[in-house]
Amino acid sequence: MPDLTLPLDHSRPYVVTGAASGIGAAVVDLLSEHGATTVTVDLADQPRATVHVSGDVADPGTWEVVGRHVDETSTDGAAALITCAGAIHIGAVTTADPAEYERLFRINTLGVLHGLQRLVPAMAARGDGAVVAVASVDSLFAEDMMGAYATSKGALLQLIRSAAVEHTRHGVRINAVCPGAVDTPLLRHHLSSTGDETAARRRVENSTPAGRLLTTLEMARLLVFLSTPWASSMAGAAVVADGGLTATYDFRLDD
Ligand SMILES: NC(=O)c1ccc[n+]([C@@H]2O[C@H](COP(=O)([O-])OP(=O)(O)OC[C@H]3O[C@@H](n4cnc5c(N)ncnc54)[C@H](O)[C@@H]3O)[C@@H](O)[C@H]2O)c1
Repeated sequence: MPDLTLPLDHSRPYVVTGAASGIGAAVVDLLSEHGATTVTVDLADQPRATVHVSGDVADPGTWEVVGRHVDETSTDGAAALITCAGAIHIGAVTTADPAEYERLFRINTLGVLHGLQRLVPAMAARGDGAVVAVASVDSLFAEDMMGAYATSKGALLQLIRSAAVEHTRHGVRINAVCPGAVDTPLLRHHLSSTGDETAARRRVENSTPAGRLLTTLEMARLLVFLSTPWASSMAGAAVVADGGLTATYDFRLDD
């Protein structure tokens, strides 16, 4: 009978960004429940982490601190880097302040690049490790008033593919997840920007074949799975996890 226990690495830490809220917090909960060690990063606190670094993922100095904690915990680097930190900006392409495009690029794209640069070399040296980046369906498709976000998340997907091309042969599994609408503070902020959060939520639910928002636990299970050797066939993949949102197009005649 094959063993169906997910093969978590208990000898090395899992680095999780955006760990204080939403999807990242659910990843920390799941990993902790299964005995894994976590080094987390967020602007806000995460008391459930083994070690927490309060800092901005866009600041390379944050990654120096993270790297030091990883090196103190294990001589073989991190088991995985799971990047969930992310920010949005709501505004039209023709009127948005270009500074918002720069801000989102620094957080959503370069915030992952810094992590890759600090943590992947040790994984490659050991010949085993994983990076799972939370991208978005906006990495693949455009969304009204979300140009800065879609631009940064599209670039993130290309960053992840590029890193996978370079490091899969070194035993590092590098993939992206592209979620649809997940019930988190970030999504609720997005929905409330319409002026009627309840109506906006209903529209999203109706245009998602699953008929509901996705949960952070669903996302966490997928992210943790991708961080393990069970995902060894995958490299540079954009794993769409959206309840069918992008499998269809919005042409419903009823509400
Ligand atoms: N919720 C959704 O519907 C959805 C859909 C697609 C993609 N995503 C992506 O999922 C990821 C997680 O988002 P969420 O919905 O859980 O949001 P969330 O707001 O609940 O959590 C995001 C976390 O990231 C942290 N963070 C933001 N900027 C940071 C920075 N510069 N440095 C360090 N930490 C920072 C925040 O403090 C927060 O704790 C994001 O990358 C987001 O773009 C979310």
